[in-house]
Amino acid sequence: MPLVSLRQLLDHAAEHRYGIPAFNVNNLEQVKAIMAAADETDSPVIMQGSAGARKYAGEAYLRHLILAAVEAHPHVPVVMHQDHGASPAVCVQAIRSGFSSVMMDGSLLADAKTPSSYDYNVDTTRLVVEMAHAVGVSVEGELGVLGSLETLAGGKEDGHGAEGAMTREQLLTDPAQAADFVNSTHVDALAIAIGTSHGAYKFTRKPDGEILAISRIKEIHARIPNTHLVMHGSSSVPQEWLAVIREFGGEMPETWGVPVEQIQEGIRNGVRKVNIDTDIRLAMTGAMRRTLARKRSEFDPRKILKEAQLAAKVLCRERYEAFGCAGMGPRIRAVPLEDMAARYAERALAPVIR
Ligand code: 13P
Repeated sequence: MPLVSLRQLLDHAAEHRYGIPAFNVNNLEQVKAIMAAADETDSPVIMQGSAGARKYAGEAYLRHLILAAVEAHPHVPVVMHQDHGASPAVCVQAIRSGFSSVMMDGSLLADAKTPSSYDYNVDTTRLVVEMAHAVGVSVEGELGVLGSLETLAGGKEDGHGAEGAMTREQLLTDPAQAADFVNSTHVDALAIAIGTSHGAYKFTRKPDGEILAISRIKEIHARIPNTHLVMHGSSSVPQEWLAVIREFGGEMPETWGVPVEQIQEGIRNGVRKVNIDTDIRLAMTGAMRRTLARKRSEFDPRKILKEAQLAAKVLCRERYEAFGCAGMGPRIRAVPLEDMAARYAERALAPVIR
């Protein structure tokens, strides 16, 4: 199957009321783990590359790793998505290199750390939508700034994210503004701010409604029920993997992520794409530390990475099952991007705002 667009998968997810994990990738083991889990559960796949991933792996390696997955698993629908494009230029480069979906994160300026104005966000996102839709590529936008409702600090991770102090208003997407944003830009999916942030240190305690505003998802969904919502920073930071990392020499203070049940509540309220990077990193690191400690004479990286891959696969499997993806892959037939472009041109995919 050729690459599919994000819009096609999210429309299917909305129709059948499930959510899809969007896993960040930057190496072979992650890609193989995600594909093995998708194969075992018959799930559709979203793999995404961040700026950090492009810096680590290089654009060509990243792209070919995902294209290798498509070739090795021809029956699995796969979206190749660019995570957090900092400018229209970055998005155009991704489109030219073959990504079937891009995120234009206009919530920050092109430096990827300064919160932007609403008008800047609308203008840059609309520009990317015009270019991307002309070739059938989907666009995710972001409204609101990711960061902690506990500390009111922006969530900087891996060179990306707002710096410094924020207000609660900045950290929570406004439902009325979200409707205006979708109407003005025609994005295919909207990333919202509800108190989550990237990385392992999201919450200092198990989150409740004060610091993880699932109620805000409900309010936004009530206002724009036909818009696919995206939860960023949605790793659950499994306590079991933190324990393994600590047991085998790692140093990680107490920390909490987004509980899977809260994500499921989000999915019942319009969340269709759930971004996960950290959980795979934690599982792989835990498995590698354990293997290195237990097999002290091992010198073959393959033996160590095999354990890391297995740990990542189990985690991905759990997420596919928990989000309702399992069994959905074979029900999806790829719509060519040219056909998607034609549908955008005839405004068949324009947003419906009440
Ligand atoms: P986590 O750091 O919670 O995995 O979030 C990843 C993400 O949102 C990528 O855009």
